Amino acid sequence: MKVSVIGAGNVGATCADAMAHRRVASEIVLLDIRENFAEGKALDMMQTATLNMFNSRVVGSTNDYTKTANSDVVVITSGVPRKPGMTREELIGINAGIVKGVTENVLKHSPNAVIVVVSNPMDTMTYLALKESKLPKQRIIGMGGILDSARFKCYLSLALNASANDIEGMVIGGHGDTTMIPLTRLASYKGVPVSQFLAADALKKVSADTMVGGATLTGMLGTSAWYAPGAAVSALVDSIVNDQKRLFSCCVALDGEYGQKDICLGVPVIIGKNGWEKIVDVKLNDEEKALFAKSAEAVRNMNSVLASTKV
Ligand code: APR
Repeated sequence: MKVSVIGAGNVGATCADAMAHRRVASEIVLLDIRENFAEGKALDMMQTATLNMFNSRVVGSTNDYTKTANSDVVVITSGVPRKPGMTREELIGINAGIVKGVTENVLKHSPNAVIVVVSNPMDTMTYLALKESKLPKQRIIGMGGILDSARFKCYLSLALNASANDIEGMVIGGHGDTTMIPLTRLASYKGVPVSQFLAADALKKVSADTMVGGATLTGMLGTSAWYAPGAAVSALVDSIVNDQKRLFSCCVALDGEYGQKDICLGVPVIIGKNGWEKIVDVKLNDEEKALFAKSAEAVRNMNSVLASTKV
């Protein structure tokens, strides 16, 4: 199996490293526009092969898409973070141009690849990749919900003083501070609702911490996080290339599911060799339904900026 990662920055390089450790693919290609940058990262990673006992070949490329040819999965992490004084609309304009160009190049050489979008604003970039590529919707997956769900489970484990691996929980909706929806009502500790162990205010705090999980780290690190995003991509790609049929929250095109159309938004989906294979219909209560509709409205507003931005 061959997986390419576009953008060899913090997130892209960590994705490649995490995938090598997880033995997800025999070949991992890392591509960046910065001269020799991806080659350097790839060589550094290859020099850990005997130490970390993996056999994946990690290849770097400076914007040469022929090296990515015939990839089974392509992960798009290229983009710029928001800088002081920059409007969100300007950020969308820049990243939309990058994601559009990258998607075109990727498909020239890997027409059958499943595309995983990581670049922010992720819900809007996933929608853009879907529209620009004209690929079957199952082959475009936005990575946000897996990461947000991992953060949710982490905060729940800290509140419960328990192992995160004994906790189940999911975050749906948009991948933004105000658009994501941690499904606290459905979260469990070994199958037992977490509400049996945590008071309502503690659960509210877990939810609030999850929603600003990314922003908290950006404040601490001065840039966005990479370990958890890299690990989340690696788990997602593993489920694709090994047809694991894992159930993850991912950003996918909705066509009436969860009451929404013509939008890409985070919902529970089965992930296998064809990309996302099925949307799982979780029965939401009225409050959760209202939050989902509000989240969709915010993401739709963001998407509408695309229409007025020259990409
Ligand atoms: N083609 C290939 N690579 C590109 C392109 C392009 N057209 N444009 C930019 N890049 C590369 C940059 O050279 C840089 O190495 O993308 C990389 C981005 O890396 P970082 O600046 O370290 O950003 P990172 O933290 O990795 O975040 C990347 O993922 O989580 C999201 O919000 C985050 O949108 C951001 C993306």
